[in-house]
Amino acid sequence: MAFDIEMIKGVYGRMAERVDAAKSIVGKPLTLAEKILYNHLWDEKATTAFERGKDYVDFAPDRIACQDATAQMALLQFMQAGKSKVAVPTTVHCDHLIQAKIGADKDLQAALNNSSEVFNFLASVSNKYGIGFWKPGAGIIHQVVLENYAFPGGMMIGTDSHTVNAGGLGMIAIGVGGADAVDVMAGMAWELKFPKLIGVKLTGKLSGWSAPKDVILKVAGILTVKGGTGCIVEYFGEGAKSLSATGKGTICNMGAEIGATTSTFGYDASMERYLRSTDRNEIADEANKIASYLTGDDEVYANPEKYFDQVIEINLSELKPHLNGPFTPDLTTVVGEMTEKATKNDWPLKVEWGLIGSCTNSSYEDLSRAASVAKQAVDKGLVAKAEFGINPGSEQVRYTADRDGLLKIFEDLDAKIFTNACGPCIGQWDREGASKQEKNTIIHSFNRNFSKRADGNPNTHAFVASPEMVAAIAIAGRLDFNPMTDTLINKNGEEVTFDEPTGLELPPKGFAVEDAGYEAPYEDGSGVSVIVKPDSDRLQLLTPFEPIGNSITNAKLLIKAFGKCTTDHISMAGPWLRYRGHLDNISNNCLIGAVNAFNKETNSVKNQLTGEYGPVPDTARAYKAAGVKSIVIGDHNYGEGSSREHAAMEPRHLGVAAVIVKSFARIHETNLKKQGMLGLTFANETDYDLIQENDSFNFIDLNEFAPGKQLTLEIVHENGNKDTIKLNHTYNQGQIAWYNEGSALNLIKKENAC
Ligand code: F3S
Repeated sequence: MAFDIEMIKGVYGRMAERVDAAKSIVGKPLTLAEKILYNHLWDEKATTAFERGKDYVDFAPDRIACQDATAQMALLQFMQAGKSKVAVPTTVHCDHLIQAKIGADKDLQAALNNSSEVFNFLASVSNKYGIGFWKPGAGIIHQVVLENYAFPGGMMIGTDSHTVNAGGLGMIAIGVGGADAVDVMAGMAWELKFPKLIGVKLTGKLSGWSAPKDVILKVAGILTVKGGTGCIVEYFGEGAKSLSATGKGTICNMGAEIGATTSTFGYDASMERYLRSTDRNEIADEANKIASYLTGDDEVYANPEKYFDQVIEINLSELKPHLNGPFTPDLTTVVGEMTEKATKNDWPLKVEWGLIGSCTNSSYEDLSRAASVAKQAVDKGLVAKAEFGINPGSEQVRYTADRDGLLKIFEDLDAKIFTNACGPCIGQWDREGASKQEKNTIIHSFNRNFSKRADGNPNTHAFVASPEMVAAIAIAGRLDFNPMTDTLINKNGEEVTFDEPTGLELPPKGFAVEDAGYEAPYEDGSGVSVIVKPDSDRLQLLTPFEPIGNSITNAKLLIKAFGKCTTDHISMAGPWLRYRGHLDNISNNCLIGAVNAFNKETNSVKNQLTGEYGPVPDTARAYKAAGVKSIVIGDHNYGEGSSREHAAMEPRHLGVAAVIVKSFARIHETNLKKQGMLGLTFANETDYDLIQENDSFNFIDLNEFAPGKQLTLEIVHENGNKDTIKLNHTYNQGQIAWYNEGSALNLIKKENAC
């Protein structure tokens, strides 16, 4: 599991020269984000100043990380690329396929029983192609990466949208679809539109019940779920330096919830402490030698308005604890103001569960602060009114927290300690009674709270808060409990209050672990055979997509999605995670969570060939069988959420030719392009309203598909009337080549063959 110090020395060794060259070409001081980006150009030294939000740039990331649910499809694609080994250090982490139900040991064994075929596949592909493998139970990908692989000034990509978590250690870490990861594994450049930059100046210092989580909950309230789209968020200021590295990780992690490309912090003493405590003295020593290159220039932070596209300032000393939700992570409520808001919105005030963990908040510090609240409850004779569940972030955190008595404190409150895995954060929660779909409230320290995300119940109102606030509210059992002012009655009928939480940034006795759960790959994996059974319902070898071509006529509307349509709506998680390695089977969940704009129902769309209503996947398959292409229409920020490329591959597999929306979330738009589909936006947003249920579509000028040139769409309505509208796109020449070849992977294979 060792980090690659020679690779890191290489990154640091070239940094001064490349950053200085970039500075003279750009002609001004640089932010940290720019320094890292310019140091990772595929073409080595900068020869041009890139225009933010406009220029597509090729980069050379240092690392790749994949989680089990997305790795299956990524590795199935990599197997088609014809390479013998990955070109860039890569790891696979088994964390998504483990259900939370009874407790860690039994749940882990159940996962091993249920998903051994997939875990064995991932282990053997990893062995064959030189990929590090983290076994089920080793931990959640982003916590494991932070503990082992993240390093200041590095660039990594990962097949999970919360890869951005590594910004807590000063990386540019970006979530991508599997097809992007495959490019880099195959030794090719990784392309990204040069991002815009948002600066967040943090002044003051957190105290009392306020936590790093509240910084990002506040930022989410300011920027909303799409306010960070196309941007890197860079945090700086004295307040930034006062936060722990894992606290910074929490903030960067939830940058995904504002649609940001990634978030990052400059190298500082907290990062050095974290590196040293996680046994990476060598990295800290190397980073110290070039520390000024691992943070933004002084002038940038002194006059941020001149250098960032947008600047936000937050005084940590005045920051109040927040509860965000339900159903969207940007809906903020300050603790203490919930009674009125919940009553007005009819949100249940009784809290049924408090869940602590996920990649967002499962560090030693998080557990210690939440445990300090739990301990008070035990000591003061309180009984937790809600049930408690804990998912430690990694085996190293779990082992250390267990050794230091933190887990025992939660157990004294009857908490369930689940596996070191995603569990309830990704719908892998076998929650008793959830199928009754009763209206209820839960509170968790995760990042996402979309409908059905935790337990599959659309009526579960999930609120996001810091781990210590989750602990206090779960103990009180009321969403509007304010631990700063309210009292509780203990077993003896006495009124008791909570003191402020306390915590430990790092374990005083150091981290420890017996078996971290890592398996190094064989030096030479050429003899490893990867088995995919032809009759497997979990895994399916891929067949290359045929190009859609430049003649799309008489295409039918598959669905006009109404309102929020995240990747969870397009390709649900939970029980469907089971089929992430089997494209045909998982396609049976295609868009089943999207709301049909015409009947406001999910998974009920009109088949224009029969006039009957049916499930989205069945209707798409019927069109495909009849040789009819189909079209998906969507609203704003379509495809927000996860990096899962299944959300693009499924419609592609089912014959959808184009997805036309008001706006896209970045990763999903790229995923559509990679799979050789059309991802287009209305030039005039109100044209969304023109689309009717029985419409057919003709692309007029697809044979002239070119960068920067609008496409023309003819909409033929049922009564024969026609509307002709313009569509925008962001395809560059290379991406048009993907479309023409049928997919990016088809193009790689073609180029390899030449
Ligand atoms: Fe896992 Fe939830 Fe993070 S699914 S990777 S814990 S966002």
